[in-house]
Amino acid sequence: MDIDLADLEFWRRPLKERHEAFARLRELDRPVFFTEKRVPLLRSGKGFYALVRHADVVEASRNPKVFSSEPAASSPEPPGWVKHVFGESMVNMDDPRHARLRRIVSRAFSPKMLSNLQGDIDRACARIVDDVVAAGPGGDFVTQVAARLPIHVICDMMGVPDELRERVHRHVDVSTAYTGVRPSLGRTVQMAASNMLALLALQRMVIDLGRQRAKEPRGDLVSALVTANVDGEKLTDRELGSFFALLLVAGNETARNTMAHGIKLLTDNPEQRRLLCEDFEGRIGGAIEEMVRYVSPIMQFRRTVTEDYDLRGLHLKPGDKVVLFYGSANRDETVFPDPDRFDITRDAKGHVGFGGPGPHFCLGANLARQEIRTMFRELFTRLPGIQTVGEPELLLSNFDNSVRSQKFTF
Ligand code: HEM
Repeated sequence: MDIDLADLEFWRRPLKERHEAFARLRELDRPVFFTEKRVPLLRSGKGFYALVRHADVVEASRNPKVFSSEPAASSPEPPGWVKHVFGESMVNMDDPRHARLRRIVSRAFSPKMLSNLQGDIDRACARIVDDVVAAGPGGDFVTQVAARLPIHVICDMMGVPDELRERVHRHVDVSTAYTGVRPSLGRTVQMAASNMLALLALQRMVIDLGRQRAKEPRGDLVSALVTANVDGEKLTDRELGSFFALLLVAGNETARNTMAHGIKLLTDNPEQRRLLCEDFEGRIGGAIEEMVRYVSPIMQFRRTVTEDYDLRGLHLKPGDKVVLFYGSANRDETVFPDPDRFDITRDAKGHVGFGGPGPHFCLGANLARQEIRTMFRELFTRLPGIQTVGEPELLLSNFDNSVRSQKFTF
């Protein structure tokens, strides 16, 4: 099989074939260089090194001084004006700028914040299942279940008032319809333009909210982010806008896709589902880690090399681009025996589905676990016969392992 990770055709292939291709790349004795094809209007630059083994992904993640997240952790790199319009996201920053922002926004994910959210997550899941029951069997799991919870939770965290939520939903629908790679130039431009307008509108909305909360703080997170913490640090308008935009991208599709792939995995593997249902509270934690390992909702992020560095015999030079293929590292047979087997009892703890060990490790990992646990608890308690029907429709992307639709019944 001819393997070119930079080619759109590669990402059109069925998931199973892509995993086979990565397995072959892992057998080679060093990272491989690929030529990145130029995507019109997006400055994609020269080629990149693909890190496909677990050990290499971990080494690069642990070493942010050499493997920098600046100027961007996405691939291909967006043009410079995008930063000017939207502000910078912490995912594309190194310390000390990254550390400062992470200190401020971490309070959004403290154990106390997360525990305060639990009652609301319970209620949201109950409402979603009420609506599923009312609609009857034969619907789409993505729109009726998986897509509803994460966005609701993010709006709750940020204290987005009810009357603005409809707008958030509309904007997010547009922005998440554009992802990774697109088939034609016309379509790419059209999708990118609507995506950007949607993001700008969302940022404006949350900045207005921030200004109100700065004047009259309430108990919500936006109030906490725009008023100074004990070290006197707070977010500027622009930083608040970028953070909200990042949450909508980072915390929405990821959790949704884990649930959508997860219900399919539990349908296709009835013995795993039986194990889970026999002892839900005891096994759901391991099941979620295995889902994230197996699915790898974010397939890759990239870094740029800052100084000469030898990685397993490969000499890297300043300016070289390196792509960390989390999806491949999570199937590395030297770390996860029989990696293509979905096994909720395996020790999946070392997976890099939430990123490798390092400063950019997913800030929302515990929140995601909490959402997925609550949703599956509600589904399996009230709809014990729930199962998927047929195969999912996947979105074409080299970044999100995204499910567009998945039929289900109960
Ligand atoms: C199963 C669900 C999720 C997966 C698989 C996931 C995956 C990831 C990954 C791989 C990164 C690392 C980025 C890098 O390497 O540069 C990351 C970072 C991040 N994630 Fe998640 N994520 C999930 C859920 C969430 C949720 C629910 C939120 C928030 C609501 C969130 C917020 C973030 C933020 C803010 C960062 C940036 C951290 C930084 O740069 O310091 N994620 N996530």
